[in-house]
Amino acid sequence: DWTMARFVDKEIARIRALVGEKGQVLGAVSGGVDSTVAAKLMHEAIGDRFHAVLVDNGCMRLNECEQVKKTLTENLGINLTVVDASDLFLDGLKGITDNPEAKRKFIGSTFIDVFEAEALKIEEAAKNSPKAGPIKFFLQGTLYPDVIESISFKGPSQTIKTHHNVGGLPERMMNGQGLKLIEPLRELFKDEVRELGRQLGIPHDLVMRHPFPGPGIAIRVLGEVTREQVAIARKADHIFIEEIRAAGLYDQISQAFAALLPVKAVGVMGDKRVHQQVVSLRAVQTTDFMTANIFRFDWEFLERVSTRIVNEVDGVCRVEYDLTSKPPGTIEME
Ligand code: XMP
Repeated sequence: DWTMARFVDKEIARIRALVGEKGQVLGAVSGGVDSTVAAKLMHEAIGDRFHAVLVDNGCMRLNECEQVKKTLTENLGINLTVVDASDLFLDGLKGITDNPEAKRKFIGSTFIDVFEAEALKIEEAAKNSPKAGPIKFFLQGTLYPDVIESISFKGPSQTIKTHHNVGGLPERMMNGQGLKLIEPLRELFKDEVRELGRQLGIPHDLVMRHPFPGPGIAIRVLGEVTREQVAIARKADHIFIEEIRAAGLYDQISQAFAALLPVKAVGVMGDKRVHQQVVSLRAVQTTDFMTANIFRFDWEFLERVSTRIVNEVDGVCRVEYDLTSKPPGTIEME
């Protein structure tokens, strides 16, 4: 009989045996459920010999970086380094106006560069530690569906894998430096990862958190990503999620966010005509994220969110609700 408590004990024992008395492990975290649960499990198994790195790409949600840092270090005790690379990402995104794949590629490769530079520093420091040996493993929060997906989609649609926050590391790190993968969640489905998270004492809000894409708000700001556009999208998103939580709907929705459309419309505010941007709200229900239905809010709720966004977010004069299921839409906008 399989229980989560037994899974935890077994997996911790397996990690300890694999890593050895002095081995060290490196991993990237995003603040999402999978990487946090994987990190907490590593911490339980080998303590500070697990090193987590959070790369701030300047496209995370409002106050998210600080919150993730606080939860991971203060609540969960994880040995975490936060790298603020937001300028590098935001400067590099300038000028990418009409090419979602170029955005994703830039963000993905910049992430790897930043992560690798940090990993080298951590490895250098690890070499001088009397208590511990070299870094031998790289932690990845791969779930069972990802394993299946990468088996069945090898070949023609490689781009499926650009989906992952923390995709593979470059050859030069994995093979070049001989890092081996460690994937403690590879036999679990999402609901089991959540159960495992609860078992490990991860706070409810984090365990139930909606997924968030690696490129973050950059793929929810349609068209060119600038600091100003990110700031607008963040504020609108924050209001939407805050109202969803206040209405007690968060756990019924699989994923919700506000996106910023790259067009302007006319509105009247006070006694002035304005020409400002349009926010698009999206909320879906799904079990596997391969297909999804839109969430049916009541009108009062949507009107309340719309009023707040138009009143509270400078530069926005209209709010729309996205009625497109997946397929034909994707969950994200880009
Ligand atoms: P789509 O937009 O393809 O999204 O319907 C399906 C699920 O995948 C997430 N997603 C990503 N996750 N990095 C990620 O870690 C990405 O680049 C990425 N793109 C999409 C999306 O948020 C949804 O949950």
